[in-house]
Amino acid sequence: MNRFRVLFPLAGLLVGLTAGWVLFPALLYRTEEQPLQFSHAVHTDTGGMACADCHSFDADGRFVGIPTTAQCASCHADVMGETENEKRFVEEYVKTNREVPWKVYARQPDNAYFPHAAHVTRGGIACERCHGPHGTMNTLRPYQVNRITGYSRDIWGSSIGRVGMEPWEGMKMDDCVRCHRETERARACLDCHK
Ligand code: HEC
Ligand code: HEC
Ligand code: HEC
Ligand code: HEC
Ligand code: HEC
Repeated sequence: MNRFRVLFPLAGLLVGLTAGWVLFPALLYRTEEQPLQFSHAVHTDTGGMACADCHSFDADGRFVGIPTTAQCASCHADVMGETENEKRFVEEYVKTNREVPWKVYARQPDNAYFPHAAHVTRGGIACERCHGPHGTMNTLRPYQVNRITGYSRDIWGSSIGRVGMEPWEGMKMDDCVRCHRETERARACLDCHK
């Protein structure tokens, strides 16, 4: 009898935890594939290209962000390798002069204002601090979107309870504000919400 008194609550707790940590996230997020696979490693590690070769700042110091197809065409005017990804890229995008509709993991809601120049150029913060190893990865992980808000899962991070996450995972308002408090930077609502 005594044994059940311990086991029942434990079983209940286990069911609750499974629902909260496994089922709830599975229901909350929808997974979408990227339109094309892309290897940063082939270009940065093997190819020796710098981040700024593709992710530049324009003359006004504004971050250009995701590169356009035109930026790739200097090398990929014709298929040069053997990979299916490159062949698809050249035939479906370069030859037809279309942009790849990449899904941006880090994308914030439209009402939040994030200037790269302030952080990278003036603040001297490394890309890896906020994006982790993305710039040296060989594949693109699936993109996950919150079904209720329509926002990227990366804003919250991989863990609903936010335990065991790397410092670069998750970029909620609290994460922005925490760093701004530590570095004594802008913390008024209108600094980040325009
Ligand atoms: C050959 C051009 C090229 C180079 C060089 C390059 N990138 Fe990229 N980068 C891309 C393309 C294309 C995308 C869009 C696909 C994707 O998400 O990876 C991208 C996307 C990104 C993103 C956006 C991730 C998101 O939130 O969706 C980050 C962060 C990034 N790159 C970091 C880096 C870093 C750091 C370096 C240097 C170590 C680098 N990149 C070098 C082409 C490049
Ligand atoms: C400076 C030259 C250069 C530029 C610029 C460049 N690439 Fe590449 N890319 C390469 C080389 C070299 C390879 C390896 C080819 C092979 O398979 O031998 C490659 C491979 C690839 C592949 C196949 C491997 C993979 O899965 O990533 C894709 C897709 C690709 N590039 C997309 C892009 C895109 C998109 C851009 C622009 C954002 C870009 N490249 C810009 C040189 C370049
Ligand atoms: C302090 C944190 C931080 C740093 C440092 C940082 N980023 Fe970002 N990055 C972000 C955030 C937040 C977003 C989403 C911005 C938005 O949605 O307006 C983003 C978005 C991006 C995007 C997608 C841009 C777009 O317009 O779609 C790319 C590409 C990118 N970052 C590359 C880089 C590279 C390369 C570096 C280093 C040179 C870097 N980031 C440094 C936080 C950072
Ligand atoms: C790792 C630390 C760090 C994180 C994370 C961070 N910031 Fe910042 N931010 C800074 C620093 C440092 C500066 C000031 C750079 C300078 O001017 O020297 C800054 C400046 C800014 C500015 C410019 C203020 C001005 O005076 O022009 C805005 C806006 C901003 N951050 C928004 C954001 C948002 C939105 C996020 C989250 C998505 C974010 N930051 C995340 C460190 C951070
Ligand atoms: C350092 C930058 C920063 C500051 C300062 C800041 N916010 Fe935010 N805020 C964000 C970012 C980034 C998001 C989106 C990510 C999230 O939902 O956590 C956000 C989200 C929000 C949202 C939810 C919006 C949505 O579309 O889901 C509200 C409401 C909000 N902020 C209000 C405020 C108010 C009120 C203040 C002042 C007390 C403030 N914020 C100060 C960066 C900031």
